Amino acid sequence: METNKVLLTEAAAEKRANARPELTAAVENMTEYDTIYLGYPNWRNTFPMAVFTFLESYDFVGKTIIPFCTHEGSGIGNSERDIKKLCPDATVLTGLAIRGSNVSRADNEITNWIKKLNLQQK
Ligand SMILES: Cc1cc2nc3c(=O)[nH]c(=O)nc-3n(C[C@H](O)[C@H](O)[C@H](O)COP(=O)(O)O)c2cc1C
Repeated sequence: METNKVLLTEAAAEKRANARPELTAAVENMTEYDTIYLGYPNWRNTFPMAVFTFLESYDFVGKTIIPFCTHEGSGIGNSERDIKKLCPDATVLTGLAIRGSNVSRADNEITNWIKKLNLQQK
């Protein structure tokens, strides 16, 4: 089977099973971060199930999460809503969705988005 087809099949099965794939790396010092840029591809209208594992693996209470994703038509989809569900005590800022095929031309869009977030320098 072609790799892409395997990926699509596995991603569909993981979503159906509400799977939590095991992560192969860990953030040792998560307590030192109060702002987290969370990047992912849009898979089946949200993030890959491994990102569900990630968001359930740490305490995000009081932290700010800034989502951004690539997609091929669905935009940010349900992903912001899913972050808020998994991390109800985090502040989730307005995310950015960029079409995968436009990433190399997205510098201005990214800069404007970051400016609009109006993050305070510490
Ligand atoms: C398993 C899988 C599911 C996907 N589901 C969606 C989707 O629901 N909506 C969407 O817009 N794009 C979807 N995509 C496309 C990805 O978002 C896109 O490939 C990714 O953002 C990376 O873009 P690039 O490969 O052009 O860099 C999916 C891709 C894969 C592999």
